[in-house]
Amino acid sequence: MKYLDKIKTASLKQDALILAIESSCDETAASVVKGGREILSSVIMSSMTEHIPFGGVVPEIASRMHTTAISLTVEKAVSDAGITLGDLDAIAVTYGSGLIGALLVGVSYAKALAYSLGIPLVPVNHVRGHVSAGYLTDKELTPPFICLLASGGHTAIIDVKDYYTYDVLGGTLDDAAGEAFDKVARVLGLQYPGVPNVERLAKGGENNIELPAMLKGKKGYDFSYSGLKTAVINYVHSKEQKGEEYSKEDLACSFQSSALDILVKKALIAVKERGYKTLSVGGGVSANGYLREKLQKECGKKGVKLVLPERKLCTDNASMIGAEGFLQYLNKNYADLTLNANAFIEITATK
Ligand code: KG4
Ligand code: ZN
Repeated sequence: MKYLDKIKTASLKQDALILAIESSCDETAASVVKGGREILSSVIMSSMTEHIPFGGVVPEIASRMHTTAISLTVEKAVSDAGITLGDLDAIAVTYGSGLIGALLVGVSYAKALAYSLGIPLVPVNHVRGHVSAGYLTDKELTPPFICLLASGGHTAIIDVKDYYTYDVLGGTLDDAAGEAFDKVARVLGLQYPGVPNVERLAKGGENNIELPAMLKGKKGYDFSYSGLKTAVINYVHSKEQKGEEYSKEDLACSFQSSALDILVKKALIAVKERGYKTLSVGGGVSANGYLREKLQKECGKKGVKLVLPERKLCTDNASMIGAEGFLQYLNKNYADLTLNANAFIEITATK
């Protein structure tokens, strides 16, 4: 029987074992997830240290590292889960958004494996994966809820109406939150990744430097990080030109508050406006300790239930791709072998 005929007739299982593969940026990751909610294994190989000397992820280096790491990563994820390839019900893979060469490694590998095993290949949108990390964190989490998404590539407030329907209430008009941290880190003389490194520096400082308010006077759920980022860069350059001393710690602390307080504020307005009870959070920026504390405090005050994934589920991982892949599998959103990687897809895209 041909591959496509075979997968069309495959029966759906509520406790399906899904092998998920993620290679959109600098992490080569694989995970086995059961029934979309239970992580049986999670392997993450990062090429981060290779990129540090360049101040950011170098696409060609990331792609090469993926080709070296992918077989071992998948093999380890399957063996750590205590299963064999023959036990798998489907393979989920990130097909976008991300670095094209990096994505292609995961997509090609997943295609070949799904074809050889005769099981469905499920294409997964990376950002939807970040949202679905909430389902692994709180097994009772069911839509509707608001998701605050903040990563290196995206900043958005999403009304998750049901498992498949997203209403994107707003997003960044320019830089993403993580991107702004990564750029500010560089000007402060810190290495990539910017979010944890700025956080570390900010711990020794105070929020006492006035930075421009974001989209002042504008309501709604949009964000703009480029003005804030430029204000920090100008502050540093002007101090340096005048030969004046300044506290990098205070600047990091002031930037961190300006960049993150607004995320919490807008996300909670969305929860209230939609009449929901739950706020879920996702993306690498939500691994930031200041943001996590602020979210806990403000949600506590307002009686909003907070679903905050543990740090390793906030940054890129394959388990979140398995959680989202399970939902797409239940919807029979299967790809055929023409599936291609796509560097830019909408937050709502499913194929
Ligand atoms: O979600 P993510 O890992 O990848 C994207 O989908 O973009 O987010 C990347 C962002 C970067 O801005 C980086 O500075 C930040 O997440 N990041 C972290 C950590 N590692 C990377 N933030 C906090 N703690 C980390 N360990
Ligand atoms: Zn990500």
